[in-house]
Amino acid sequence: MEKSFLVQAVRGMNDVLPEQIGGWQLLERVTRELFAAYGFEEMRVPLVENTALFKRAIGEFTDIVEKEMYTFTDSGGDSLTLRPEGTAGVVRAAITNGLLRGARLKLWTSGPMFRHERPQKGRYRQFHQIDVEAIGFAGPDVDAELIAMTARLWRQLGITRVKLKLNSLGTSQSRRAYREKLVAYFRQHESVLDADSRRRLEGNPLRILDSKNPEMQAVVSAAPLLTDHLDPESREHFDALCAMLAASGIDYVLDPRLVRGLDYYSRTVFEWVTDALGAQDAICSGGRYDGLINQLGGDATPAIGFAMGVERVVELISQAGMPLTQPPPDVYVITSGERAQRNTLALVEKIRDELPQVRLHVNLGGGNFKAQFRRADKSGAPLALILGDGEFERGVAALKPLRQETGQSECPLSELTARIPAILKDLAGLSHAG
Ligand code: HAM
Repeated sequence: MEKSFLVQAVRGMNDVLPEQIGGWQLLERVTRELFAAYGFEEMRVPLVENTALFKRAIGEFTDIVEKEMYTFTDSGGDSLTLRPEGTAGVVRAAITNGLLRGARLKLWTSGPMFRHERPQKGRYRQFHQIDVEAIGFAGPDVDAELIAMTARLWRQLGITRVKLKLNSLGTSQSRRAYREKLVAYFRQHESVLDADSRRRLEGNPLRILDSKNPEMQAVVSAAPLLTDHLDPESREHFDALCAMLAASGIDYVLDPRLVRGLDYYSRTVFEWVTDALGAQDAICSGGRYDGLINQLGGDATPAIGFAMGVERVVELISQAGMPLTQPPPDVYVITSGERAQRNTLALVEKIRDELPQVRLHVNLGGGNFKAQFRRADKSGAPLALILGDGEFERGVAALKPLRQETGQSECPLSELTARIPAILKDLAGLSHAG
């Protein structure tokens, strides 16, 4: 096909191929079981929400809202946005479905998120998050439990090169007072600030602390620290969290410059980072958002959550060397002749009814015996089940081990389901012995 006719994938949006899916499935399976064990329930929310939701939740002056959202007007004239993150939608759903009412909710959700960022390794325009939200809990115990749950997840996945960064942003009031101090400080050093930071001085000065610009590092590192300006309750909350983590043997690093890119946070914020992925080092991040629910029109309810970047965690899983490929079939079914072709499906479906745990691949699309045996070999199956017209006439099937020299044998069709498990067990024993 001529190149110009080939429609390419959208930049920054990836296919997940069968050879890569093992890590995704492992992460999905392990998180599903882990979250259930901690009492979290799954929910699903739409990929598309009214644009106003994200503007209000994430903040007008954040990078996400200012430049990264996929926003469009639909044919009815509504401004809609592909979700850039999961928290806003979950909170919106909790409010509009009347789930709050003083309830304590432990929820999780997952799926694709969309941000128009500059794509690079580990940073994509469609990426996936697994997102956990605990709504209605005020104390530091839930902060600690969420962090302990993620620490357990890394252990279960064999991921070791991770570090927990922790900070407290205080309440919105204490942050306001700090913010004024920070703006005054940066104004004194305005000549050193780059254009981006000067713009942020008005809308979102805390984000200047995140700047990676080397020419600004001296000024940024001498800036007043939020942690020195915490209100007493936030300080107490944070100290209690740190004490619980220490008592549980969970290592953390205090990072007074961890401010996060979304405006809804208050008090605890945290980020798990790794040195194994290059520049995009955050694999799981979150924090408290005690003011968000009220800000979106629900009753004031404290809450905390986090989201992990699935692509990044999957990359760490594959680096950890977990066996991730789908197992080969147990039995490859070879079939030849008109009568056999007609009757194979019914026979095989009956075996599948009775032996649902046996992975059975049927040769599809015909082919002579030689070609079918080649496919059977390639499939990796230890056993071939051969059904020709002759066999059907005599009411038998031939069974041929594919990985051992043991010869072919015959088995009455009516005894197949009784014999196959035992034969597979023998073959597995033989292959381990060899
Ligand atoms: P976030 O830090 O924006 O937080 O994203 C969470 C995680 O998603 C990051 O740590 C990273 O692993 C992954 N991620 C973010 N952007 C990209 C991207 N462009 N490509 C690949 N991975 C990415 C949130 O989204 C909050 N909603 C988390 C939260 C939940 N806070 C409270 N509850």
